[in-house]
Parts: sequence; C-alpha cells; structure tokens
Amino acid sequence: MQEFAEKLISWYRENGRSLPWRNIQDPYRIWVSEIILQQTRVAQGYEYYERFVRRFPDVRSLAEAEEDEVMKYWQGLGYYSRARHLHAAAKAVAAMGHFPATYEEVRRLQGVGDYTAAAICAFAYGLPCAVVDGNVYRVISRWMGIDEPIDTTAGKKLFAALARELMGKADAALYNQAIMDFGALQCTPASPNCLFCPLNDTCMALREGKVGELPRKSKKTKVTERYFHYVFVCSGAYTYINKRGKGDIWQHLYELPLFETDRPMAEEELLASEEWSGFFHGNLPESVTLVARQVRHVLSHRILLADCHEVVLKDESAFAKRFQRVLTDDLQNFAVPRLVSHFFSLLLKPNQ
Ligand code: ADE
Repeated sequence: MQEFAEKLISWYRENGRSLPWRNIQDPYRIWVSEIILQQTRVAQGYEYYERFVRRFPDVRSLAEAEEDEVMKYWQGLGYYSRARHLHAAAKAVAAMGHFPATYEEVRRLQGVGDYTAAAICAFAYGLPCAVVDGNVYRVISRWMGIDEPIDTTAGKKLFAALARELMGKADAALYNQAIMDFGALQCTPASPNCLFCPLNDTCMALREGKVGELPRKSKKTKVTERYFHYVFVCSGAYTYINKRGKGDIWQHLYELPLFETDRPMAEEELLASEEWSGFFHGNLPESVTLVARQVRHVLSHRILLADCHEVVLKDESAFAKRFQRVLTDDLQNFAVPRLVSHFFSLLLKPNQ
C-alpha cells in the first residue's frame, strides 16, 4: 500500500505539471482553481484561472463584484452554476471575516462538495484528506481491479475509503496532486501508456486485461435533444436580449430571444408553424434570414440543436415589453453561453 503512494509521488516528481495553483497555500486561489477544474480540463481552465484571479485576487474583491461581471469572466466555461455558487460563497466568507479552516466548515460553502473540500484542505492546510475525482476513480479501480460502479452510494463510499487508505501517511498535498496528474497524464481514460507505467507490475486491471473496462458505471447518462430557435432582431443599431431565469440551463446568462419546439423542423415548416407565429404574437416579421441552422451544442444531459434567424419587425412593441433593448455594439459585454457567442460572431462581422 505504501509502495503505491511512493511510486505515484516519485512519478509525480519526474512528470508532474507545474501549474499556477500548485505550491501555494492561499485557500481562496486553491478554491477558485478547484471549482474551475471540476468540469474543465487543465488546458482550458488555465487561462480562465489566470484571468479570474487577476481580476478577483482575493475573497473580498469577488464578494464585492456584480454577478454579471463574474459571469462574464466565466463565459465559455460551461456549468455556470459553479460561478454563481462561488460568488455567493465568497460573500459568505467575506461576511465571516476569514476563510474557513476545517473540513466541515469548508464543506458547508455553497458549491463545495466532498471533492473540493478535500482538495482545499489538503492543498491549503495540509490536512490528511484524500481527494476522489474522476482521475482517482480511474487509477484506483484499475490498480486494484475493482468493478464496483463508481456512481452508486456504495461505490462512492468504497472508493473514498480506499483513497484514504492508499494515501497512508504520505504528504496529503503532494499525494493528491500526484494521483490527479497520474490519472490525467499516465492512466488516461483511453489508451493509457501501460508499457511505461511505474505501477504495471502490480496493476490488477492490467493483469486481468480489464484496463479498458474500468472504472465501471451502473447507468448511462440519459441524453435528450432540445430544439432551440433564436431570433436576432435587426432594429437599426439596436437589438433585443433576454436574461435567463431559474429552473433551466444557463441560469442568469443572457441570450437572444428564443423559443423551443418539441421536434426538429425544416425551415419552411418552422416559418409556417404555430410556434413561430405564437412567438411573434401573430405579428410576423417583415423579413427573415436564416443565419445558422441546427448548430449542435452538447451539454452533459442534453444535445441542443439551435437555429438562428435574423428578422426585421414592423412592430416591435411586443418584443420591447418582453425583452431588453440594447445596442448591438454592446452585445459583447453580456455573459452569454458559448452557443450564443457563436451566433454573435456570425451576426456581428465587422465592416460588412
Ligand atoms: N484537476 C482538478 N484539480 C486539479 C489540480 N489541482 N491539478 C490538476 N488537475 C486538477
């Protein structure tokens, strides 16, 4: 067991990445990095982290910021509830007057789960907490040849206990960074480099030919399709946008006016549909130009197929009541999902 930790750490000393949130003890910066990296790869998260901590270098600056600005710094990263929770928790920490210093307190912060609490406590405070993320599930399930599913309560409990046991008396910060990098760089999901792996002599999955099967999940994520139709109103120098509300994806982000249909539709069918005329309250546009058709946008549980239409309206009064009228030149200042910024780049080509 101890050999496992030692081998990982010596592999890490040779191969580990030098990253800006490593070898620091500032719990705030570690927290920000771990929230960004929860659902984001290091290559993408790196730039976001640097920009974020440059603008919000400490809890207070984040707590005092407007939510719209925080969301703008998160734009394109996805899983936007992370940013909302981070912001809300920063306000709570600022009100407390100090960053929480025990696992239980850290775990109580909004948006902080077992994984993030363990990471903050190990990296910032050196507490003996073992992190369990996707990398850790993969390394442990393979090395020990465990096919218990990782997405059940029993499986999660088992892997948490094993992770703690395998860490032993090793330095928590070093060990946790080592196992995460080992999972990210060496024991990769597809085509891991088993030939040159320092654990290949003791890896159960390798011995039993099960590397490709592990870790195992009990259920497949159910993915459903949704059909979005965005409308860009061309009103001189102005257009309309909407701030998304509660209870659906992309809460508090901005977007172009949108309606949804329960099935994909060809363009002619869409323009003749009740959904289309309903969206305009019967006041059909003077002209309609298709900007983009069925752009695929994949989220964790959904696949969106989105059209975008540029329209000119005879009468904008209904739109003006439902949506926010803004200068088209100001669109870039609003935090929007990546899909919408893709439409912006098609719509707002300079000098055309
Ligand atoms: N993924 C999640 N946390 C990480 C960290 N601290 N370093 C590298 N990759 C990570």
